[in-house]
Amino acid sequence: MANIVILGAQWGDESKGGTTDFLAENADIVARYQGGDNAGHTIVVGEEKFIFHLLPSGLLRPHTTNVIGNGVVINLETLFAEINELEGRGIEVGGRLKISSRAHLILPYHKAMESWDDLGSGLKLGTTSRGIGPTYSDKVNRHAGIRVGDLVEFDLFQKKLDFNLTAKDHVLNQIGGDIDKHALLAQYYDYSQRLAPYVVETPEFMNNALKSGKRILFEGAQGTMLDIDFGTYPYVTSSNTTVGAVCTGLGVGPQAIDQVLGVSKAYVTRVGSGPFPTEMPPDLDEEIRGVGEEYGATTQRPRRCGWLDLVVLHYAAQINGFTGIVLTKFDVLDHLDEIQVCTAYQRDGEPVTAYPSSLRVLDECKPVYETLPGWKQSTADVRRYEALPANAKRYLSYIAEFLDLPIVIVSVGKERTQKIICDNDLFSSA
Ligand code: GDP
Ligand code: IMO
Ligand code: MG
Repeated sequence: MANIVILGAQWGDESKGGTTDFLAENADIVARYQGGDNAGHTIVVGEEKFIFHLLPSGLLRPHTTNVIGNGVVINLETLFAEINELEGRGIEVGGRLKISSRAHLILPYHKAMESWDDLGSGLKLGTTSRGIGPTYSDKVNRHAGIRVGDLVEFDLFQKKLDFNLTAKDHVLNQIGGDIDKHALLAQYYDYSQRLAPYVVETPEFMNNALKSGKRILFEGAQGTMLDIDFGTYPYVTSSNTTVGAVCTGLGVGPQAIDQVLGVSKAYVTRVGSGPFPTEMPPDLDEEIRGVGEEYGATTQRPRRCGWLDLVVLHYAAQINGFTGIVLTKFDVLDHLDEIQVCTAYQRDGEPVTAYPSSLRVLDECKPVYETLPGWKQSTADVRRYEALPANAKRYLSYIAEFLDLPIVIVSVGKERTQKIICDNDLFSSA
């Protein structure tokens, strides 16, 4: 199998985790390269459900090694809770997990700072409250960032912690987010001991793996429209969620990538605030949320639901250089008489050619819909493309032709095996 990037083409929760777990059957390494425990990646195997926030979604495949790259921000409490949970469920993590010495740490004060930022700007971004933004801010600011490697050299951690607690004291006092330094030091000393065996230099590790022909899956978090540069700023996350982050978040060159798969739901969801041009009217929104069980894997918030937006997918395909699409949650549309697909945006009656960077302009855009007939038949048990109802195939062809991209996998249920492989070449060598 080729080295494949699996990344979200919409606003997150497209089932990157499920897709990664599925493809990991034929991979050696699964690597996360950005984001943090704001992610919630669900994998269902038989009757068992797993939600990974920080750990890569290859861990349920015992033959894989899993990597957390330098582009990821790490909350150690989450990390060890996830490792404990997995090991408690009989899945060995141990030597199968590698963590970059260059990854930055999320500390308790980052979470406190996040509520301060929201209060100050009045923007109400609706973040996951995991301290993601403040941690990436500290990384870029350089004075305040604390890396995995600093924790392992514990005296460096102590110095940097002192600096941060002094620098942030004023704000922490105002929001009642006082930190007990001694308790935190004791806790982080334990973490440093526990973390040390996992720590590697990821550029060395990844490039050795590439050289020896290992098959690698690069697992994205969030989605293209939440990208700090290309998403609906400021209603975005704080990392690049798009393909460039694979290289900067792991220390590999672009030649490491053979394929870039854009994962998209057969409709769209968005959790948190921000523009959403194809958002459904309330009754349909509620109906799809019910059928699709659209509640956040990290925050349990209801996800907003909308019709498939091909303008967004086209934009995502451009930015990421998609080589194929993985279409998920197809079964959620099984009951509909008709399905709408947004094929263009119009503003003042004129077509909008480029995805607007201005939220004001985006707000004035009206989606133009094509209506396609539903298939009114369960697809949950279908495993071959040919066996899909005619109108289901028509929906898939419409999307593929519009984007000029193959749909390589269709997911028709949350369970690992509920997948239709449309492109067997995906599993041959690059
Ligand atoms: P991720 O963040 O991209 O990994 O996606 P999430 O795990 O947050 O959200 C995807 C949700 O849809 C999870 O609850 C999955 O179990 C579920 N899911 C994934 N694929 C399918 C599918 O094809 N059909 C249905 N009905 N549910 C699915
Ligand atoms: P996965 O990997 C969906 C959203 C939040 C908020 C915005 C900023 O499971 O697809 P942050 O905490 O990152 O500063 O929040 O981004 N968000 C996600 N939405 N799926 C995710 O991850 C998300 N991670 C962040 O809801 O709107
Ligand atoms: Mg998710």
